[in-house]
Parts: sequence; structure tokens; C-alpha cells
Amino acid sequence: METIVPASIDNIDRAAKLMRSGELVAFPTETVYGLGADARSTQAISKIFKVKGRPAHHPVIVHLAEFDWIEQWASHVPNDARRLAQAFWPGALTLILPRHSQVLTAVTGGQASVGLRVPNHPVALALLRAFGGGIAAPSANRFGCISPTTAAHVYSELGETVAMILDGGRCAIGIESTIIDCTSGEAVLLRPGQISLAALATVLGYQPRLARGDEPRAPGTLAAHYAPQTHTELISAEILPAVLQQESQRRIGVLALSLSKPEHFVGEWRQAAVQPSAYAHQLYATLRELDRTGLEVILIEAPPTTPEWLAIRDRLLKASYR
Ligand code: TXA
Ligand code: MG
Repeated sequence: METIVPASIDNIDRAAKLMRSGELVAFPTETVYGLGADARSTQAISKIFKVKGRPAHHPVIVHLAEFDWIEQWASHVPNDARRLAQAFWPGALTLILPRHSQVLTAVTGGQASVGLRVPNHPVALALLRAFGGGIAAPSANRFGCISPTTAAHVYSELGETVAMILDGGRCAIGIESTIIDCTSGEAVLLRPGQISLAALATVLGYQPRLARGDEPRAPGTLAAHYAPQTHTELISAEILPAVLQQESQRRIGVLALSLSKPEHFVGEWRQAAVQPSAYAHQLYATLRELDRTGLEVILIEAPPTTPEWLAIRDRLLKASYR
């Protein structure tokens, strides 16, 4: 039996059955592919950690089919969270809320909070409905590696260690959800994503505070994360041409944004899309491709510091952190 299967109704039903018997199923969402398990089963969740090679105390997001399921997972839904969910669910927003007493320690990593998201993807929603309950799902990559945005990426990360990979094509957004912590009375942005700070501020009526570097309650917020295997550096557009001129020995790859390929450049050149949403959509696939090319270094032209590049800069900083 093939591991990657088309996301037909029959296969979604099979996936739900597999999850009911404690197996792992990878599935598409609009952000990245998730590695799903029954969020009410400690045993099933422990498989996620094993397959990903992820440290055990890291919390996982619970995916829900609709807002109304929230009361089984959160002890209380603050007004800010309610407004954000109304505005952005289904969608690329994860809310951190006070946990319901029934939520497993394996899900929360022992914290008093739980991360919840209603994804905006027909396959993810059909799977959630067929399964009939919350699905715990981190991104379907090995710990510390780049999140997968196609079924083939999932297979290259996890191989036959998952029961099934539902193929829903390429993820539309391409980077992980925005995470907002709503447990403290003031919304805090833990991880930027496609939803802009301005859009969040419009809904909240105030600008969410940005998490400080010293509150890494999420592995995705650790500095070294989402990283290619190849040494990767983020270099400003002003300096990059001079750096390229000095590079004559090493096999280099470049992910350029505003710069165009110099005439005598030898190496792998990738021209990124100039729109942040199109850039995000392509980013992880491009990094994977460069990572497979046997390069000694990947040089990435740093995008502007303007707000619409916040989430992408966050991921690039993590990809290049050493
Ligand atoms: O777009 C996404 O969010 C994707 C798709 C599959 O939904 N999922 C994803 O999961 O990126 P993961 O586990 O790779 O990243 C989720 C982040 C982690 O950094 C985790 O620590 C954090 O959310 N998180 C989960 N529950 C939390 C909690 N109770 N408090 C703080 N952070 C939490
Ligand atoms: Mg992840």
C-alpha cells in the first residue's frame, strides 16, 4: 500500500479510522502539512514525538473543525480570543488559551494553556469531521527541519513512519500559522504568520505585544529552527554583491529578491517572488531544493524590514541562525 494517497473521500475515511486506532496521518492545511494524531490519546501523541524526534515537553496544536468545539478544549475563551477567532477562523491563526481540565498533558507539554486552530483547508476540515474530534498536529517535519508544503516533502522527512499521507497538493500559504497567546489579558504575538499585525490590531483594537526573546514557550520560537542542513546566511541587499564577488571557491546557492543574477555567477541562483505572500508560498520548497543540491553555503538576500515581511524575516532568521 502506498503511503501517499490522493485526498479522496474514501481515503479521508480510512485516515479517520487509522487515527481512531491510534495511528498517525499526515494531512494538508493551508499553512503547511500537519502530522495528525488523536488529541485524546496519550499513546497516539507519543508517536508524534517519536516520529519527529521532538523533545517531549513541547506542546502541540489541537486542530478543530469549528469554533463550537472550543469549549471541549479551553476552560474559558477571553473576549480578545473570541474576536480573533470570529475574524480569522477558519484560517492561519493559532490561539493559546487556558486549557480545559480534560486536555492531556501530552498536548500541553505540562503547561496551563492549549493551542487551538480551525484550519482553512477542505481536506483538513473533512478529516476533522470524519474523525469527529480534535486532532493534535505539529508540522510534519523532523524536529528542527523545514516544514513540509507538499506530500512529497512529508514523505522525504518521515517516510514510512506514518500510516498515511493525504495528498492535497501544495499548501497555499506556505509558512506556519500566526500564534497569539490570549492567556494573560493582553494578546501577545508568539509567532508571526500570514495575518498581518495591522489586521490583528484592527480586530483587537490595539497592537498585540511582540513576544520577547526570553519567552520561548514554543519550539517554533527557538532561534534555531526551520533550518536547512546546509550552512545558511542572511545577507543585506547592499552587501550581497560584494560578498558574491569574493566567493570564488565555494559552491554557493543564492536566494535573491531584488538583486538579479550577476553575469559571471556560477552556482545555484533562485529568484524569489517580490510579493510577500508569493515569497512565503515558495520559500520552503526553494530552501529544500537548494538544500538537496550539495552546496557549501546558501546566501539569502534579506527582505526589507517593513511589516509585511515580518513573518518571512522571522523564518529566514531561524533558517540562518547558528
Ligand atoms: O500552521 C501551523 O500552525 C501548522 C499546521 C500543521 O497547523 N502547525 C505547526 O505546528 O506549525 P508546530 O508544532 O510545528 O508549531 C506550533 C507551535 C509550536 O512552536 C508549539 O510550541 C506552539 O505552537 N504551541 C502549541 N501549544 C502551545 C501552548 N500551549 N503555549 C505556547 N505555545 C504553544
Ligand atoms: Mg513545526
